[in-house]
Amino acid sequence: MQTHLDSLCFPSSFRWGTATSSHQVEGHQYNNNWWAAEKAGGFVYQDQQSGAACDWWNRAEEDFDRMAALGLNAHRMSIEWSRVQPAPDRWDDDALARYQEMVDALLERDIEPMITLHHFTEPLWMTAQGSWENDESVGWFEKYVHRVVTLLSDKVTLWCTINEPMVLVGQAYLAGIWPPGQKSLRSSIDVGLNLTKAHAAAYHTIHGINPSAQVGLAKHMVSWSPHRVWIPTDHLVARMVNRITNHLILDAAATGRARLPFGKTYHIKQAANTLDWLGINYYQRYRVGIKIRNFLRTFFPSLPANIFYQGTKPGYQKGPGSWGEIHPEGLFDTLRAVAHYGRPIYITENGIPDRDDKNRPRFIITHLHQLWRAIEEAIPVKGYYHWSLVDNFEWAEGYNPDFRFGLFGVDIETQERTPRPSSRVYGEICRSNSLTQDLVARYDPELVPQIFRVDASKEPQQTEAT
Ligand code: FCB
Repeated sequence: MQTHLDSLCFPSSFRWGTATSSHQVEGHQYNNNWWAAEKAGGFVYQDQQSGAACDWWNRAEEDFDRMAALGLNAHRMSIEWSRVQPAPDRWDDDALARYQEMVDALLERDIEPMITLHHFTEPLWMTAQGSWENDESVGWFEKYVHRVVTLLSDKVTLWCTINEPMVLVGQAYLAGIWPPGQKSLRSSIDVGLNLTKAHAAAYHTIHGINPSAQVGLAKHMVSWSPHRVWIPTDHLVARMVNRITNHLILDAAATGRARLPFGKTYHIKQAANTLDWLGINYYQRYRVGIKIRNFLRTFFPSLPANIFYQGTKPGYQKGPGSWGEIHPEGLFDTLRAVAHYGRPIYITENGIPDRDDKNRPRFIITHLHQLWRAIEEAIPVKGYYHWSLVDNFEWAEGYNPDFRFGLFGVDIETQERTPRPSSRVYGEICRSNSLTQDLVARYDPELVPQIFRVDASKEPQQTEAT
């Protein structure tokens, strides 16, 4: 198929949106585990605190106007559990009313809300009782979900139960770099199981309230590649990491079974068939492999057991710090790799840390090109939510200037917003529902031949180990 096209068009009902999460934009959150960690210190860049963040609790509507001006028809936002249920036996009706108001404000602007029910944060009363390690957490979450969904079910159809469960497990319970700072495989497995059960409980609860609701979860997907293509063990590691981090929870939500490589199979029957749609958060590629010398050392217990390599390859564009390689084809590969789940797909997050906006226009264009290719292959992608509309509080990176994700820059002191050029790029794409040659020629002419004048079926594809 030759693509001498002027425009790559997207399906007519395609959802074009942005994504945010409550703790990262609302500000003034004083009752959740992240706030406690920020106060305690040790978890966030320069021990910064989220503070007022983007002040959405007071001024979300101003940013909703910006979305409307860009031509967006969708937005993914989250509800802060600690606000609506500040104590196990207390609901905050004012907080619930504010969320209702925000949802109404989106709808008034013809922006369809997708609501995430859990995006990394939890109320302090839950932390005090062992958080997700406590098996009762599933019931706590179910009760909260019931309350929120009952309130909003006539306005919201798209529900995202849990954001990036495996990232939460990895960062907070295995690597210990997010609160509660645990480094335990046992806890990681327990939390992973409880999050899967919590997703399943939320799925059934939401359908009990509104049978036609569309419920899914947002899964962080990394494009894992072997560090050295000629070393078989690196391929093995890439495949194994891919199975665990990318597919374990999706398999559980599809089949009710989670099979650890070389390990136990867990049966979570209630989780089977609990995805009406599948959310993909895609950012980057990492190379992985085995450090052979260190591998040998592990036979001698007194020596360090750091046997795995995870990193990037010189010569490839990468993000700041330990951020991985920018790899648009990885989005295409990822979409192919999840097509077999047979569910509609949303790209629930995709973006780049880029304060100066040097790379974001190209990032958006190249990733949307890959998305278009996937749709051309009949992979049912229904929408794209760019991360993010505005710069915000980036978890362990806090307000580190290297980790600015917004289409709009935000001065956290003054709350002033400054549109970046990429907001115009994205807005044009959303309004025209297409990626046009004219737009690419204006913003990144070098990309024109690659996107518009090649044989799409023979484009160079790097399909390593996704
Ligand atoms: C994702 C998180 C989101 C944001 C982006 C940059 O993994 O879901 O909250 O931090 O990364």
